[in-house]
Amino acid sequence: MKTVLSGTRPTGKLHIGHLKGVVENWVDLQKDYRTYYFIADIHSYTNNLSSDKKQYVLDIARDLLAAGIDPSKSVLFIQSEVREHAELALYLSMTTPLSWVQRCPTFKEAIADIRAAASESGEEIKDESGISTGLLNYPILMTSDIVLYDADYVPVGEDQLAHLEISREIARRFNNLFGDTLKEPQPLLAKYPKILGPDRRKMSKSYGNCIYLSDTPAETGAKVMSMITDPAKIRRADPGNPDICNVYDYHGIFGSSGLDEIKEGCRKGTLGCVECKKRLAAELTEILDAHRMKRASLGTDGDISDILGEGRKKAQTVAVAKLNDVKKKMGTGLL
Ligand code: TRP
Repeated sequence: MKTVLSGTRPTGKLHIGHLKGVVENWVDLQKDYRTYYFIADIHSYTNNLSSDKKQYVLDIARDLLAAGIDPSKSVLFIQSEVREHAELALYLSMTTPLSWVQRCPTFKEAIADIRAAASESGEEIKDESGISTGLLNYPILMTSDIVLYDADYVPVGEDQLAHLEISREIARRFNNLFGDTLKEPQPLLAKYPKILGPDRRKMSKSYGNCIYLSDTPAETGAKVMSMITDPAKIRRADPGNPDICNVYDYHGIFGSSGLDEIKEGCRKGTLGCVECKKRLAAELTEILDAHRMKRASLGTDGDISDILGEGRKKAQTVAVAKLNDVKKKMGTGLL
């Protein structure tokens, strides 16, 4: 059986874009692969130094479990709890040329963002501007996450492809220097739907346009009613174009029945946007209600911690063996 591994940073509550784009894919992969999933809490400090991440971590774990990550099939754990991740990253930082990480597009983007913000406000760019050596080392820690478990495949979004390419290079270089030790991971690009926010911008915490898994039915309803439809369809009887309508996209993604009928009704002017949105709100609410009930059935935060603790033990057994192999190959200490 091949191994799949992936991680998610605890940067906030999960929204429906995460559910459809990432989590449902993770759940499916459990059928055919040995799966390791983890919450990349160390990585989250690269852009957020807040010290109250614990509740996010527990909530994300709960959401993952509620969505169908099954602890009897997957090893689910917290990155920082398996310290071998950090230790291996340190060794890999010794074998990775500085230019490789400096070239990384996400690193260059972070620097460009900070420069742009500074020039807008006319401020000088200071060393404390938020570019830490941890941000520079992001791909090295990510490589460590992956190679510790001999992962064959890493399901990632397009935005992470560059990281994965560096991971492959880092693994290859280590093998060239010290002999075959680390497996080169392959990306597994999910063909997941892009879910836009109600305002048609990318769904993102910073835009305040997320439909969260934890929203109440009233909140979900209000967000759906605010969605942008075809601007040419003002009255019910006006013919609309479903191809440019966010609500229609959602109907497609969330598996509404009667998609053809919705399309036809919209085009012919027999289905109005308000009614169309009400149908969507009802369907989304049903999905989210089921998720909420599943979340609640998982018990206390202590119960979630116990599951993560079991995951840590399983992960650590594998990680320790790989790290020892690396240290032996490098000839560290008395190993
Ligand atoms: N970089 C990923 C993200 O920002 C999170 C992550 C950390 C990850 N380590 C990983 C993903 C290892 C896959 C494999 O979403």
